[in-house]
Amino acid sequence: MIEIKNLEKKFKNELVIKYKDYKFEDNKKYILLGASGCGKSTLLNMISGIISPTRGQVFIDGKEVTSESQHAKDIFRIKNIGYIYQDFKLIEDMSIMDNINVLRIEGVDTSGATELLKKLGMYNKRNKKIKELSGGEKQRVAIVRALVKNPDIILADEPTGNLNFSIGETVIKELTEVSKAKTLIVVSHDERLTKYFDVIINMNDMTSSYEEEAK
Ligand SMILES: Nc1ncnc2c1ncn2[C@@H]1O[C@H](COP(=O)(O)OP(=O)(O)OP(=O)(O)O)[C@@H](O)[C@H]1O
Ligand SMILES: [Mg+2]
Repeated sequence: MIEIKNLEKKFKNELVIKYKDYKFEDNKKYILLGASGCGKSTLLNMISGIISPTRGQVFIDGKEVTSESQHAKDIFRIKNIGYIYQDFKLIEDMSIMDNINVLRIEGVDTSGATELLKKLGMYNKRNKKIKELSGGEKQRVAIVRALVKNPDIILADEPTGNLNFSIGETVIKELTEVSKAKTLIVVSHDERLTKYFDVIINMNDMTSSYEEEAK
C-alpha cells in the first residue's frame, strides 16, 4: 500500500501544493485526471522518491520512505518501482534489447524481458533501434523496461500523451493487462481511458495550491 499523509510540496517560486491524505491499495489500477499544473507529476515524483516533499510523508507498505537519504530512495526506486514516461526516455541509437539490458548496470535481472516482449508483440523487433520504431512501439518497449524488474508498483506519467487515441488505448489495455497483481498509477488527460481502471481520481479534488507570500 502507498499512503500519503499531510503531503505538501513548495517550489522555489513560493507555490505550495497540498495533497489530501490518501491510500493507494495493493494490486489496484488508478487513473489520475486533473487540470494541467494541479500537481499530478509532482505526486508521482514524490512517491517514487525522485523529489522530496516539503512537508508530510509517503509510506510504502508501512515504511516511511520520505525521510530516507536520496541514495536509499534511489535504490528503493530501482528495485521496487517501474516508471513510464510520456516521452519514453529510451536511448534512440540503441536496440530494444540493449535498452533493456542497460538495466543490468543497476543490478536488475533482465531475464524476464523475452516473455514481456512477446506479450507486447515486440519480440521480433528486439534487435531494431529505437529510432526505427513507431510511437506506440516505443511506449511498449518503455513498458517492458519498467516491468522487467518485476516491481510491485508501476507509475506512468501520461504514457499515451504522445500517441493517437486508438494506439494509446491499445497501449493502456496492454499496460493494465501486464500490470495485473501490481499497483498501477497512471496520469492521463483522457477520460475515455477510465474504463480500464479500478479507481478514478480527480486530482483537482485531491489538491489545493496557493502562493505563499514572499518574505
Ligand atoms: N521544478 C519546479 N519548479 C517550480 N515549479 C514547479 C516545478 N515543478 C512543478 N512546478 C509547478 O508545480 C505545479 C504542479 O506541477 P506538475 O508538474 O505536478 O503538474 P501536472 O499536474 O503534472 O501538470 P500537467 O498536466 O501539465 O503535466 C505547476 O504549477 C508547476 O508549474
Ligand atoms: Mg505532469
